[in-house]
Amino acid sequence: MEEAQKRLQKLKKHIADLRFRYHVENDPTVTDDVYESLIREAKTIEKDFPQFAVSQEFDRVAGAPLSVFTKVTHTSRMLSLNDAFNFEELQQWSARMEKLLRGAPHHYFAEVKLDGLAVTLRYENGALVQAATRGDGLVGEDITENAKMVRTIPLQLTAPFPTSIEVRGEIIMRKNVLIKLNKQQAENNKQPFANTRNAAAGSIRQLNPSLVKERQLDFFAYDIVDQYSSLENVKTHSQKHALLRALGMPVVAEEVTASQVDELLAFIDDIANKRDGLAFNIDGIVISVDELSLQDTLGVVGKAPRYMVAYKYPAERVTTVMSDITVNVGRTGVLTPLAHFAPVVVAGSTVSKATLHNMDQIARLDIRIGDTVIIQKAGDVIPEVVQVLKELRNGKEKKFSMPKKCPVCGFSVAQREVANKTEDTVAFFCTNDDCPAKHTRGMIHFVHMLDIYEVGPKIIDRLQEEGLVADAADLFALTEADLSGLERFGEKSAQNIIAAIAEKKHPPLDRFIASLGISNVGVETARDIALHFGSFENFWNSNVEDFDSIPNIGPAVVESISQYRCKESSINLIKKLFANGVMPQSIAPQKDGIFSDMTVVLTGTLTTLSREKAKEIIQSAGGRVTGSVSASTSMVVAGEKPGSKYIDAQKLGVKILSEEDFLKMTDGLV
Ligand code: IVH
Repeated sequence: MEEAQKRLQKLKKHIADLRFRYHVENDPTVTDDVYESLIREAKTIEKDFPQFAVSQEFDRVAGAPLSVFTKVTHTSRMLSLNDAFNFEELQQWSARMEKLLRGAPHHYFAEVKLDGLAVTLRYENGALVQAATRGDGLVGEDITENAKMVRTIPLQLTAPFPTSIEVRGEIIMRKNVLIKLNKQQAENNKQPFANTRNAAAGSIRQLNPSLVKERQLDFFAYDIVDQYSSLENVKTHSQKHALLRALGMPVVAEEVTASQVDELLAFIDDIANKRDGLAFNIDGIVISVDELSLQDTLGVVGKAPRYMVAYKYPAERVTTVMSDITVNVGRTGVLTPLAHFAPVVVAGSTVSKATLHNMDQIARLDIRIGDTVIIQKAGDVIPEVVQVLKELRNGKEKKFSMPKKCPVCGFSVAQREVANKTEDTVAFFCTNDDCPAKHTRGMIHFVHMLDIYEVGPKIIDRLQEEGLVADAADLFALTEADLSGLERFGEKSAQNIIAAIAEKKHPPLDRFIASLGISNVGVETARDIALHFGSFENFWNSNVEDFDSIPNIGPAVVESISQYRCKESSINLIKKLFANGVMPQSIAPQKDGIFSDMTVVLTGTLTTLSREKAKEIIQSAGGRVTGSVSASTSMVVAGEKPGSKYIDAQKLGVKILSEEDFLKMTDGLV
């Protein structure tokens, strides 16, 4: 028996090494058969001596299919990164760091930027307890059962491990796995996945964990969520990577520490050369200030940390022949020309269409149907036509002009001046307020915002064709009988759809505002608005001036909202939604809290509560939390070992609160 235990231990260790070499380093030392045979032996021992089988490491058992993914509020926001598109922008970023750090000794750390989807993994006592997607950064989806089917996500950490730890990283699909998967898709007459990121994202969103297992996804860790001083011997980002490796987490081997940002340019070039040979797709290099205490000082601005930047490799370019230009009608009624071309692979994905934006762009490029064009795509950026190779024209190319009638409803098309981010252009738009295209797009956006997963674009098309719905409000008046009467529509799916719609009758206010499709009002802006007004009535009946005090909201947003609120079609839609039983949930407005209109900065380590909790308390009481101290800062809350923000506060005469003062002040809120 002792013999068997020893053998099992040895096997486990060796299998873990082999797996690491295979999945992480892409350097298998044995063939698949040998690997499988070792696993078989280990499984047999575990079966004979179940007392030694501590985890399902060798035979991950897929959980039962889910009906929905539940929401998870992240312990700390999952941020995004600012981009640097060339060396100059990278140097500008580092110059900013040098200035802000005012001579504080520091290093830079560089690692590859994986092209997959971000996930966060919580481990308690070494065991994986929860996995969640990024979502909007604040709230994601619980994908624990699916994550367990990702072979390189450890179910159990290697000891010694902290009692609780949260690891962030990327779920990816290796390039060779995508090739195999797309072959299968073709055999089954299914659409191929455009790239490894889409395939990974599509796979992890499967409600059935067994399907996820089949997709052979992988994972790499890149960060630990933590206050910089609480983990022993972890004072830098590079030490976080070392700890992750010690815990048995897969971490990409390619990384480097440097004292000057210039030293990283060689690393960036080196990876650019190796890129094609890597087992997985990357879309850049992530560079950070290595010292965690300095990261804390530098803080976060908006949704991105100041201490990190993503260097993006230059866009790839390919040529193809443009066979046609069609016109799309968006949910605001604007007509957008779309170029169609022979499919080409660019930056890791197959593309066959690209937006031409507007007539000005067509004139600028002097693009004609039949032209040979250069398509550019940078990683996750949408493809664009950047140039026409006029030398290759044969005289048969045709000029394009906007149709006079809407291609969807046949109403006349009008023109108006619009101010874009960078220029003034002329937009062509359908004059029919009831154009089905506007409604279709509007409805797709609506169900997407309210997470009504069961109603996708195809179903919306079908329901419209059948005359069952004309706008989003009609969805809430559908009955099972309406649907089950339709050809090829089972009773079960009718029930599911009706139930899914009914479940979303009381959406969170921010999602509801975002679902209306008001120009310039996306999820984040809708959240700011919802938090400010608290209820839909307050928002709808507000004056233009009421928006002045909302952070991040500029005149363009206010203008769009004003226009939206006086349009008859929007008034009717809202009335109809309410009449059909939709009632967004109100949330407590933040105006009257004790931190109302205050800007608060946190520095140092808080001992009785997490920084995120402190932030939440301040925000829920009407305050804003920012990363750096300025004359307009209302107060600084200083925990243990406060950083330079403390000195800044003293210099500027900003009020400083100890953790104790803060707790007293917020007594009852905690
Ligand atoms: S650091 C601050 N390190 O890039 C948030 N992110 O553009 C970034 N990503 O959502 C965390 N590889 O999904 C970091 N080595 C890496 C990464 C990485 C890929 C992704 C991640 C994030 C996105 C931000």
